[in-house]
Amino acid sequence: MNIGILSGPNLNLLGTREPAIYGRATLDDILAALGVVADELGVTLRHAQSNSEGALIDTLHAWRGEVAGVVVNAGAYTHTSLALRDAFSATAIPFVEVHLSNIHAREPERRHSMLASASLGMVCGLGAAGYEYALRGLVGALRARG
Ligand code: DQA
Repeated sequence: MNIGILSGPNLNLLGTREPAIYGRATLDDILAALGVVADELGVTLRHAQSNSEGALIDTLHAWRGEVAGVVVNAGAYTHTSLALRDAFSATAIPFVEVHLSNIHAREPERRHSMLASASLGMVCGLGAAGYEYALRGLVGALRARG
């Protein structure tokens, strides 16, 4: 089973980006930790990061039929991108949303996710460890579907 990890804008700067909010783990650190979990779960990961909304959508189109599901942190596009939600719906790729910070405890403009209504679920506020929980939850849900 292939699983996509999709990372949105500014997540390439994790490690140095507002560490009081997002922690000190880099995106590579997070991916390395996910790789260990993926091995345990018997799944293969693909990863894409882009600062461009269109490139994230193009990635989902390319992953159609290739990944069984996606863990996505869409960064600020979470709060704005109906187009990204449409891409998930159009490709019918099941996904779990993850955020390092607790978006519901932050500024009002971060408290709504455009993606959430189409997601299997969301993990937020648990820092880098949330990616592991999201991956485990996604794979569990996909396997339960059969
Ligand atoms: C984020 C939260 C978003 O509001 C923000 O724009 C990000 C990161 C998080 O992981 O906490 O870029 O998705």
